[in-house]
Amino acid sequence: MRARGMEMAGKDCVKVAVRVRPFNKRERDAGSRCIISMTSNNISIQDPRNPQNSRTFTFDYTYWSHSGFSRNKDGLFVSEETGGRYADQASVFLDLGQGILDNALQGYNATLLAYGQTGSGKSYSMVGYGPNKGLIPTLCERLFQSVRSMQDSRQCQVFFSMLEIYNEQVVDLLSKTSRSAGGLRVREDQQRGFYVEGLRRVPCDSAVQVEQLMEQGTRTRTTAATHMNANSSRSHMLIIIQLKQIFSKDCITKQSNIYLVDLAGSERQRSSGSEADRLKEGTAINLSLTTLGNVISALADMTLGKKVVHIPYRDSVLTKLLQSALGGNSRTVMIATLSPADICYEESLSTLRYAERAKRIQNKAVVNESPTERLMKELKAENAKLLLRLSRMGQEGRKADDETKELRRLLTHNELQIRAIQTLWEQHLQEALKDWETQYATITQERRMMQMHPYIMNINEDAQLSGVVKLFIQEGEWDIGLADNSPRSLCIRGLGIQEKHAVFSNQQRRVSITPVSGSKAIVNGVPVSKRIELQHLDRLVLGSNGTYLFIGFPSERSVEDWSRYDYDYFQSELAAAEGFHIQSLYDDQGHRPHQPDPSLLAVFYDYIKLMPMVTEANQMSEELKKGVEFKLEIKNLAMSDSKGHDLEKDIAVRVTSVESKQVWMWSKAKFVNRKFLMEEVYQQQVVGGEGADRAPLPRDRDPFWDPLEPLHLGSAHLWLQSLAFRIPLEEQVEVVGPEGTEEAILQAQLVPCSPTGLWVTFLHLNVLKELNISGAVIFIYCRPLGEDDILIDPSELLGKRLDFQLVLDQCCGLRWVKEARNRGVQIGFQVFDCPQPLYTPAVWHNVNLLLDHRVQFTALRTSQELFSYLQSNALVLELWGLQEGCSELVSCMDGVKMTQEDSIIIDKISPSEHSTAETRGSDLSSSLRTLHQDLEQLRNANAALTKENSALREQLNSARNGVENNRGRQERRGSLRPSCDAEFAKALKVFYHSMTSVRGQLQRLRRHRPSEEADLLGLRLFVDEHTYLLKDFSEQLEQCVTTLKQDVAVIVRRKREKSGIWS
Ligand SMILES: Nc1ncnc2c1ncn2[C@@H]1O[C@H](COP(=O)(O)OP(=O)(O)OP(=O)(O)O)[C@@H](O)[C@H]1O
Ligand SMILES: [Mg+2]
Repeated sequence: MRARGMEMAGKDCVKVAVRVRPFNKRERDAGSRCIISMTSNNISIQDPRNPQNSRTFTFDYTYWSHSGFSRNKDGLFVSEETGGRYADQASVFLDLGQGILDNALQGYNATLLAYGQTGSGKSYSMVGYGPNKGLIPTLCERLFQSVRSMQDSRQCQVFFSMLEIYNEQVVDLLSKTSRSAGGLRVREDQQRGFYVEGLRRVPCDSAVQVEQLMEQGTRTRTTAATHMNANSSRSHMLIIIQLKQIFSKDCITKQSNIYLVDLAGSERQRSSGSEADRLKEGTAINLSLTTLGNVISALADMTLGKKVVHIPYRDSVLTKLLQSALGGNSRTVMIATLSPADICYEESLSTLRYAERAKRIQNKAVVNESPTERLMKELKAENAKLLLRLSRMGQEGRKADDETKELRRLLTHNELQIRAIQTLWEQHLQEALKDWETQYATITQERRMMQMHPYIMNINEDAQLSGVVKLFIQEGEWDIGLADNSPRSLCIRGLGIQEKHAVFSNQQRRVSITPVSGSKAIVNGVPVSKRIELQHLDRLVLGSNGTYLFIGFPSERSVEDWSRYDYDYFQSELAAAEGFHIQSLYDDQGHRPHQPDPSLLAVFYDYIKLMPMVTEANQMSEELKKGVEFKLEIKNLAMSDSKGHDLEKDIAVRVTSVESKQVWMWSKAKFVNRKFLMEEVYQQQVVGGEGADRAPLPRDRDPFWDPLEPLHLGSAHLWLQSLAFRIPLEEQVEVVGPEGTEEAILQAQLVPCSPTGLWVTFLHLNVLKELNISGAVIFIYCRPLGEDDILIDPSELLGKRLDFQLVLDQCCGLRWVKEARNRGVQIGFQVFDCPQPLYTPAVWHNVNLLLDHRVQFTALRTSQELFSYLQSNALVLELWGLQEGCSELVSCMDGVKMTQEDSIIIDKISPSEHSTAETRGSDLSSSLRTLHQDLEQLRNANAALTKENSALREQLNSARNGVENNRGRQERRGSLRPSCDAEFAKALKVFYHSMTSVRGQLQRLRRHRPSEEADLLGLRLFVDEHTYLLKDFSEQLEQCVTTLKQDVAVIVRRKREKSGIWS
C-alpha cells in the first residue's frame, strides 16, 4: 500500500513516512500478534493488554511491508498479487527517494532520516539487503542516470562521504589513514554551518563506484565495531552526497547537500527508580538521539505557536550536523520503521509519537548558489572588464607599457584560476577512479577466492555488518590471532583474542581448527580445546564473542540460505549449551503451549542478548584486573507475591568480587549502561596503545565498582488464613531464593492474642523450653484466649477487633552466611496496609540465628478488605543479606499508628466503607428495585412454607400421639442438627491445631543433626536424643490421630442416630 498524504502547500514541512516490516524469527517463535493496521494514510496501533485501547496517527506516507508478499526468482520481495497492499523497496523509493533526488536536482538541500527501534528495518529501508536494494543505492543509481541524461545542459560533480557517530565521536568510514583518537572534529563556519573537519569527500561518477564505497565504509564500520568492542546498533551512519551542477550557459551553479541518515536504534532507556544508576554518563551513548528528540520537540512546539527559547542543536554532534535538515535550509523526509509485533508495543508507540512530532517541523529551503561559482562569475566579469580596457587602450593606440603589462598579467592569472577551478574536479575524479580500480581489483580477487577456498566470515549483531570480513583458509596451516607478522597468518581482533589464538589446517580437502592452549574457542556451542574438524556451516566463537560462520569447499555448498545462521542463532546455541533453551518453554512433548508466557519469552531473549555482553564484561574485568565476575541470573524465577501468584521474571546480573566475595545485583539497564562505560575504560587503558591513560580510576568513577547494598536473598510465605479463625499458626518455612534455591529455614508464628499481649499456647511454651528461654517474665501479661475465641465462622471477625503477634523465632541454615562468615541478615515484612516494611535487627556471622522478634498488630474493626486479605494472602518474609561495609535496613515508622499497648494499628481506613458510602446513593434505587422483587418472592415462599408447615405440624401431632417413645429422639433432633456441625468443626480445629504442633516436631527432627565435631560418644548421645524425639513425634502423631478417630466416631454415631429418626 502506498498512501500519499496531503501535500503541504507552500510549506516545507518535514514529510513523514511509516513502514511496518514482516515478523522476524523471534516474533514468530513468540507467537506474536500484529498490532499495527493501516488504512489510506492512517496507521493504528492496538494495546495488546487492552485491545479496546487503540491509537491512530496520520502521516504523509504509510507502507505496509508486513504481509502479502513473496520472494521472486531474483530474490526480490514483491507483492503476491498485482495491485496488492504490500509496499516493496521500489514503491518506497518512488515516493521518498525520487522526491529527495528531485529536490537535490533543483538545488535544494535534502535529508532522509530513518528512525526506529533496533531491528525494525531502518537499514533495510535505507541500504537494503542483497537484491532488495534500499533507498541509498537506488537514489545513487538514479542520480547518475540523471547526471548522464542532462550532461548537455550542465556539468555535474558528485562527492560522496560516509561517516559514523558513535558515542559522540565522528569516524570517517572512507578514510585512508588510521582512525584519529577522539574522532574528527565538528566545526562551525559562517557560511557552511557545521561541518566535519577533514572528512574525506570522494568524487564519483557512477553508481557502481558509490556501491563499492559503501561496501568499504561498511567494512570499516565492522572493524571499528570489533576494535572498539562496540555495538553498531548504537551508532548513527551518515552518508553525505554533495551535488554540484554547473550551468555554463546560464552562468549559474546549483549546489545541494544530500544527507542520508541511518539512525541508531531508538530503544528507550527505561529509568524507573530502581534502575537508576550511580554512573549516568553511560547515557552519552544516546546523547545524539536524545538531543535529536529534544530538537524535534522544540521545533514542533514552535510550529504550534508555543514559546521556545532555545533549540538545543549544539548539544550533540548529530544535531549539529543535521541543523539545516531540521528547521533550516533543507527538504527533509523521515521514515519511521516499526515492528508489527505485540511484544514491541511500547517501542512502536514511542516511535509513532516521535514521528508525529517530527511532521510538525517547518523548514525554509532555498536553492543554493555556490560561493566558488560566484567567484568564477566574478573572475569572468573582471576578465571581461580587463579585456574591454585592453581593447580600448589598443583603439587609443597606446603602447604596451606597464599598465597593459599589469592588465595582461591579471587576465592570465584570472584565466588560470578559472581553469584551475574547472580542472580540479577532473583531477580529483581521476585520482578517485584510480583508487576505486585498486579497490575493485581487491573485490574481484575476493570473489574469486570465495569460489576456490573454504573460509570463515563474520556474523554481527547488526545484520548489515555480517559477512563483511572473510578469511580464506587455503591449503596448509594458518595461524589466526592478533599477530599479523607472517604471510601464513590470518589477523582477527576482538576481546579475548590471543596473539596466536588457533591454527587452521587445510589438508587433503579437510579443514580443522586447533585452539592454542589457554585461548577460548567454541564450535557449535561447545567449547573445544583440541583439534576439531570443521564441517560446512559450523559456527565458531573465537575469544569472548568473535562469531564466525565456516563456509566449506565450494563442492560442499548448496543453495542453502546462510542468513539463517544469524547472530541470534549463535547466541541461542550458546544459551542451549548452558541448558537454557527455548524448548524449555514448551511442554514435555515439545509442543508449543497455546500462549507462551510472554514474561518468560522476554526473559529468554534478554538472556540471549545479555549473554555475550556478560562474557565480554568478564573478559574486560580479567584484562583490566578488576577481580569481579559477572553472571546472569533470572530474577523471580521461583518467587511469588503475597497471593501466591508468580512474580514477573526479569534478568539481573550478579556481580561478585572474587577475593572479598562481596556481591552486587545489577538490573539489566544498569548492566547495559555499565558495560558501555567498561568499554570506554577498556578502550582507553588496553587498546589505547602508547600514551594511553592507564591511571586507575577513582572508585566513584569506576564502572566495575559500586557501594555495597543489602541484597534480597529470598522470601518465605506465611499464610494468614488461620488468623481469620483466630487460630495460632506455627510454621517452619523455607526461604526460597530467586532461582528456587533453599536460602534458609525460618521458624515463625502468627498468634492471635488479647489486646494486652500474647496468648501463649502449650506448644509455644514447648518451643521456648526447647530454646532454653525463660518465659517467666513474658508470660506475666499473658491471657490465654479460651477455646471459645476460636471462630467457627470466620466472618464473625468482621467489624471486631483483632490483635495478633508475628513471632520470628529462629532462622537456620543460612546459605548466605555459610558462604562467607563476615555477612549478616535481616528479615523484612510488610503487613496489610502498613506504609513501609519493617525489619528485624541485623544479626551477623551466624548460620543459625535465634531471632525471637515479636511485633504486635491490631485491627480495631476488621474490615472486609482485611478479612479478604487474611483469607487469601500470605505474609511475605523477605530475607535480606548484609555485607561488611553496607548499611543496615532500618524500619521507618513514619505514618505508623500505635495503640496504647504499642501494637501497630493496621486496617486504618476501610476503603470498602468509604466506597460503600459513596456509591450508596447511586446504587440505592437499583437496590430498592431488587429488594422489592426479593420481597415479593419471599412473600410467595412464605405463604407456601406456612402451608407446608401446618401440614407437617399435623403429621407431627399424629406421630406424637402414635409413637410415644419416639418423643425423646425428636427432641434431640431439634438440638442435634446445629450441634453436630459445631462438633465437627471443633474436632477439625483440634486436629488442625495438633497437626501444626506435630509438624513443628517433624521439622525439628529433620534439622536435628549431629555436630560436625561429634566423636563416638557424641554420636551415641545424638542417636539417643534422636530416638527420644522420634518417639515423642510418633506419640504426638498417634495421639492426634486417635483423638480425631474418637471425635469422628462420636459424630458418625450421632449422625446415625439422627438419620435413624428420619428413617
Ligand atoms: N520491510 C522488510 N522486509 C523484509 N525484511 C525486513 C524488512 N525490514 C527489515 N527486515 C529484516 O529485519 C532485520 C532487521 O532489519 P534492519 O537491519 O534493517 O534493522 P535496523 O532497524 O537497521 O536495526 P539496527 O538498529 O540494529 O541497525 C533484517 O534481517 C532485515 O532483513
Ligand atoms: Mg541498522
